[in-house]
Amino acid sequence: MIDDDQIEQIEEQYAPRERGKKIQFKRGRSHKQVIAQIADVAKNTPTGWSGIAYPTPPLGMIEQASDARAGFNPSFHASRHERKWIITYLGPFYEDSLITDVLHPVKGGKEANVYCCAAHPTIGAQWLAAKVYRPGIFRKLKNDALYREGGVLKEDGRVIRNRRAQVAMKKKTDFGKEILHANWLENEYGILRALHSAGADVPQPFASGENAMLIEYIGEEGAPAPPLNRVRLERAEAKNLFERLMHNVQVMLAHDCVHGDLSGFNVLYWEGDIWIIDFPQAVNPFKNPHAFKLLTRDLERLCDHFARYGIRAEARALARELWKKSNLPE
Ligand SMILES: Nc1ncnc2c1ncn2[C@@H]1O[C@H](COP(=O)(O)OP(=O)(O)O)[C@@H](O)[C@H]1O
Ligand SMILES: [Mg+2]
Repeated sequence: MIDDDQIEQIEEQYAPRERGKKIQFKRGRSHKQVIAQIADVAKNTPTGWSGIAYPTPPLGMIEQASDARAGFNPSFHASRHERKWIITYLGPFYEDSLITDVLHPVKGGKEANVYCCAAHPTIGAQWLAAKVYRPGIFRKLKNDALYREGGVLKEDGRVIRNRRAQVAMKKKTDFGKEILHANWLENEYGILRALHSAGADVPQPFASGENAMLIEYIGEEGAPAPPLNRVRLERAEAKNLFERLMHNVQVMLAHDCVHGDLSGFNVLYWEGDIWIIDFPQAVNPFKNPHAFKLLTRDLERLCDHFARYGIRAEARALARELWKKSNLPE
């Protein structure tokens, strides 16, 4: 396991910075080191659809994988700490012949880092997305009273009932954090499996491991699919996609799932198709007393987003309609 300091370094490195903003430098660096860092950032900064750059670490920090798992030597040149992180959490996927390489980071968000990996030839796809959870996911806990009530659901829909575990979760002790962490991951992977086999527009899940999962990669190498809020649609296409999203919300409800964080940020768009992503906080409408509120909020955000294309839809009415159609309790 890596310690908090190392995690902080990774967080710092991944904090998205807008293009054109000043690069932050650690205090105490020599002039020469700073110049080297600027050169390196300029050389290695992938600026994609979002215009957000993720500075890579200074060259001096790049270390060849002496600690690599047998043969696993990712070609993405991460910092020493991030590399360790990658080898720890994605190494098992390499050993299981699911991926052959880690090519580049897609995005470091608040709760997860996503990497584009080369898929093993047996997978039948060229790339896979690896989502590695970050300790930042715990921050979500601060505002998650809505999600937490009713317990975190396991893949089979059971809720954690163990008293010690519940107390630990409430107190957010290390033990509690571990449980919650494991549950976020299990929750997301289990839901993806259920929804993908139900035909919903979600990335196909391939494997889950300790702290990470492998799912279908949307986009191309070096060009990950942008989220909807970065895309400008034609009106007719927008109308179709809105309807398709409503259909997906219905499929989710039919499978006891309210996304809970649905918006233009968590819908990927690629060549006319959409994929809904980011499910760790999803709740079961039979277990969570706030599920209807969360559904309404999801729909409000989607309706807000699509209003720019002249689509008029009333989120509350839609929520009531979908809820009723799914025979959910009043
Ligand atoms: N399957 C995927 N294919 C391509 N890009 C992805 C995929 N999954 C996630 N991403 C990218 O990574 C970002 C973070 O993933 P997400 O699941 O939304 O986690 P977070 O909780 O950090 O928002 C997304 O906004 C998207 O840009
Ligand atoms: Mg997200």
